[in-house]
Amino acid sequence: MSAATKEVKRITTHVLRAMKARGEKISMLTAYDFSMAKIVDAAGIDIILVGDSASNVMAGHETTLPITLDQMIYHAQSVIRAVKRALVVVDLPFGSYQGNSKVALESAVRIMKEAGAHAIKLEGGSEVEESVKRILSAGVPVMGHLGLTPQSIYKFGTYTVRAKEEQEAQKLLQDAQLLEDLGCFSIVLEKIPANLTKVVSEQLVIPTIGIGGGPDADGQVLVTHDMLGITKDFHPRFLRRYLELFETIKEAVNQYVQDVKSGDFPNEKEQY
Ligand code: KIV
Repeated sequence: MSAATKEVKRITTHVLRAMKARGEKISMLTAYDFSMAKIVDAAGIDIILVGDSASNVMAGHETTLPITLDQMIYHAQSVIRAVKRALVVVDLPFGSYQGNSKVALESAVRIMKEAGAHAIKLEGGSEVEESVKRILSAGVPVMGHLGLTPQSIYKFGTYTVRAKEEQEAQKLLQDAQLLEDLGCFSIVLEKIPANLTKVVSEQLVIPTIGIGGGPDADGQVLVTHDMLGITKDFHPRFLRRYLELFETIKEAVNQYVQDVKSGDFPNEKEQY
C-alpha cells in the first residue's frame, strides 16, 4: 500500500481498553471547532472531547450549565468533519439526561445521528444509573465522569478537590465500579486525590482518564485552550501550560493593527 493510500488506524473503545491492558497511557484533549480538531487529531491525540466546557471557553459563560443540546451538536459536527483518527466523545449537556432516562436516550441518539459522534460522556454515578443503562442498551458507548462534576457546581458550591473524606471516596469507588458493571467504556476522574485515582484505576478493567487526579490514571485530559495558554486567568495546580498563546496572538494582532495604520500592509507583493 502506498503512503498516499495508507489507512489511518482509528481509535475505538476496544483500542483504548487494549491500551490500558498493556500499560500504554491514553491522551485526551478538548476541541469544539473544525480547525482546532484538525490540529489536535493530526498531532496524534487518542480521544477528542467535545466538552461542555465549550460553555466557558467558546461562549464565555461562568459555568457549563447554559450550553444547550443543539449547541453541543453544532460543535460536535464541526469537530467530526476534521477528525481522521481520534475517538470523538461528546458531552451530554446539563438537563439533557438527568432524571429521565427516555430523554437521556433521545439526547444521546441526537448526538450520534446528527453529529456522527463516536460516544457520549455524562456526569454522575448511581444518580444517573437508569440513563446510563438506557443509552447503553441502544448501543451508544458511554464515558462516565466522577469527582468534580461541574454540572453540579451549585450543589457543591466550589471547584475544590473532591472525595478527600472517606465517605465520599467510598461512594466514588462504588460509582466507578457501577459504571464499569453497567458497561461504560471509560471514566473521567476530575480533581480527586492522587491516591484515590490509583485505587480506582487499579480496581477497574476500563481505562480511567484523569484531570487533576495525579499520574496513576490510565490517561490524562486537559482543556486545549488552557494548555495552550489561550485562556488566561485560570491557574489550577494540575494545569501544565505548553504555550502562552494569549500573549503571542495579542502581539501578532497588535503588529497587524500597527501595519494597517502605518500603511505598511499590504505591500507591493501583497496585491494584484
Ligand atoms: O467539558 C470538559 O471539558 C470536561 C473535561 C474537563 C473533562 O468535561
